[in-house]
Amino acid sequence: MTSSLAVSSYSYFPTQVYQFDLPEAEALNEQLMTLISALRSVDEEGIQKSNRQELGGWHSRGVLQKLPEFEPLVNHVREAGERISSDLQYDETQELQISSMWSIVNPPGAFNLAHVHPGCLWSGVYYVRAPEGCGKISFTDPRLAHIMNKPKYSPDRGAPKKCWTKVSFTPVGGKMLLFPSWLYHAVEANRADPDDGNGERVIISFNLSQRKRK
Ligand SMILES: [Fe+2]
Repeated sequence: MTSSLAVSSYSYFPTQVYQFDLPEAEALNEQLMTLISALRSVDEEGIQKSNRQELGGWHSRGVLQKLPEFEPLVNHVREAGERISSDLQYDETQELQISSMWSIVNPPGAFNLAHVHPGCLWSGVYYVRAPEGCGKISFTDPRLAHIMNKPKYSPDRGAPKKCWTKVSFTPVGGKMLLFPSWLYHAVEANRADPDDGNGERVIISFNLSQRKRK
C-alpha cells in the first residue's frame, strides 16, 4: 500500500553485539589449547558457573588475564575494548579493562545455562576450538514485554532484524564476540561427534569494566 504520509522511523535502545575476527588465529588457538590443557591438568574439577559439571563442562578460574602466557589474547581484547569505547563515545580518560577472564570447555552433550555477567559493562567470548555442531550462543531480548507481545510478520519475509527477540551466532575458531554484560545469553548443547577426538568446544570468556586510563 502506498502512503502520502511523511514518515520518520526512530530506532532507540539498540542492543549491540560486536564481532571481531582475530588475525593469525590458527597459531594463536594452538597456543591457547596448550595453555588451557595445562590449566585443566592441574585443576581437573574447575569451578561451577553456567557450565554443567555433571555433563563434563569445565570452567577455569577467572584470572587468566593475569597470566603472562595469555598476553597475546589480552592485547586483542584490549584493542576491541578501545574500538567499542571510541564507537560509543566513551570518556577518553577511561578505558575498558579486563576484570576477569576464564576458559570453558564443553565436551559433546554439555551446554551453558542462560545468564548475565553482573558487575561489569561488556563481556565477550573468543572461540579457541569450535567443531561443527558444537553449540551456538544465543542472545535474548532483555525487554520481556517485547517477547510477550508477538506480532504476525510477513510469512515470506519474516521479522526484520530490528524486531528480532532472539539471535544466535555460530562459533568459529578465531571469532570474538563482545556484548553488553546485562544481555542474557546461553549456549546450546554441543552436538559434535562424541567419537571425534576434537569434539570439545573451547572458549575463553571475559568481562570488561571502565577504569581510569593510566
Ligand atoms: Fe556468559
